[in-house]
Amino acid sequence: MRLQLILALLLTLLISGVQRVCASVLSYSPMSKPTDPYQQRDEQQRIREAVETARRLALDLLDRDVEPCTSHSPEHHRKTLDISLCQTGSSLAKVADELDRILAATPKTSGPLFFNQLFGGRDPAAVLTEMLSPLVNSSMYTYKVAGPQILIEREVIDRMLAKVGFDNGEGMFTPGGSLSNFSAMLLARNAVAPEAREQGLDGRRLRIYASSDSHYSITKNAGMLGIGRANVRLIEVDREGCMSVSALREAIEEDLASDIVPVCIVATAGTTVLGAFDPLESLADIAAEHRIWLHVDGALGGSLLLSEEHRHLLAGCDRADSLAWNPHKMMGMPLTCSVVLLRESGLLAKSLDESAEYLFQTAPDELNPGRRSIQCGRRNDALKLWAAWRLHGDDGYANRISQQFALAQYAVSVIRAHPRLCLIREPQSINVCFDVVGTSAVDVCAWLEQERAIRIGHATVNGRTVIRLVCVNPDLSNTDLDALFEAIHEAADAVS
Ligand SMILES: Cc1ncc(COP(=O)(O)O)c(C=O)c1O
Repeated sequence: MRLQLILALLLTLLISGVQRVCASVLSYSPMSKPTDPYQQRDEQQRIREAVETARRLALDLLDRDVEPCTSHSPEHHRKTLDISLCQTGSSLAKVADELDRILAATPKTSGPLFFNQLFGGRDPAAVLTEMLSPLVNSSMYTYKVAGPQILIEREVIDRMLAKVGFDNGEGMFTPGGSLSNFSAMLLARNAVAPEAREQGLDGRRLRIYASSDSHYSITKNAGMLGIGRANVRLIEVDREGCMSVSALREAIEEDLASDIVPVCIVATAGTTVLGAFDPLESLADIAAEHRIWLHVDGALGGSLLLSEEHRHLLAGCDRADSLAWNPHKMMGMPLTCSVVLLRESGLLAKSLDESAEYLFQTAPDELNPGRRSIQCGRRNDALKLWAAWRLHGDDGYANRISQQFALAQYAVSVIRAHPRLCLIREPQSINVCFDVVGTSAVDVCAWLEQERAIRIGHATVNGRTVIRLVCVNPDLSNTDLDALFEAIHEAADAVS
């Protein structure tokens, strides 16, 4: 009897256990599984929390702007920062804490210790826009999705076209100068090899001409376009770093005699190391004579079109077929902000349009930039530029450029005044290349980074490694440059 009772009890327990398991299996739904603490809350409230946290962290980050950002190894960061992704989620507060630590440990590119790249500084209107735009999260393929954002982009592109002098042109924002150059090179390739888009290249040998000081994206793009890296002819430059017109002419004539098809001449307006400008009028003459596409890589120097004082460096750019311009360089936009501008309207669609009926559902196509872009989903990089342009106006940008040039000229005067410093070239724009006699530029830059958290780069000019100071941040002052040169002297004493 007792045994029966025990068996009955065990059976009941077993059945109720099975029932519980079945019930939980049936009610299982990945969406309702409470592993994500957010599931219990309302979306609006969560985003509100995110915005408030962002405000707090942004202000904290600004308070810490003065702290130098010391160099640490990747191992150090792996040990001190919690960057691993996990199976289970965590709270927004914890994510924010870790983000805060990561941002604090990230090199600061806006302050008086950063001279390393062709960008630097911050713009209030652009920061404001970049903080807000994820809240609407537009995608720039259609008017249907992006509404007035499309009009904003048009306004910015039209203003830039007018500055170049492309009266009937068009343009497109891209994810950076490399891809603005790519887009132009693609259109140039399709102009001489129209079959390429449909059937692929027909085996003819194509050629691109760019100076030996051109940006590496030119050879990379030639590789991506099926033209071949080896088919980029790097034309010699003169002492100032400008493409030799006679060498270009000879190269083209030699190629034509060998049935090699010129695709485009890439002129650089503001080279990456020396900030030099190729002679656009002369290159436009050659391009016109041989009916070759002329592309101007103005990723760095395109912004000079906003300055009456300095735009002469780009004289002749209105005769080019295309121009790349990076507002994330001299116009101080947060990365990335780059545009490719075309003299003739209609060419982008000719090379890029596809009939995706699931996307392009409303007319007119003029308001559907997705039909003219190498991208599908695309953020509106024009919005921050529009906001900043509204804030500063053309005049503000002209003043900004004057200040950048003034800083470069001040640096030149300091270098000239000190026998230990040697100016490598008289700068044409805002890149100042120099070295410290008796030292290696690599060692000086490494010491500055390790001991003073100063970031300044080195590069090679005519086989000589030099320090490259880029005066792109107009919020810096002569006093900041004095402090930099003082540190350079200390570095030189330490490494020589
Ligand atoms: C002359 C020139 N062209 C193109 C580029 C590439 O621009 P991005 O870095 O936006 O791809 C650079 C970058 O520094 C550059 O200096």
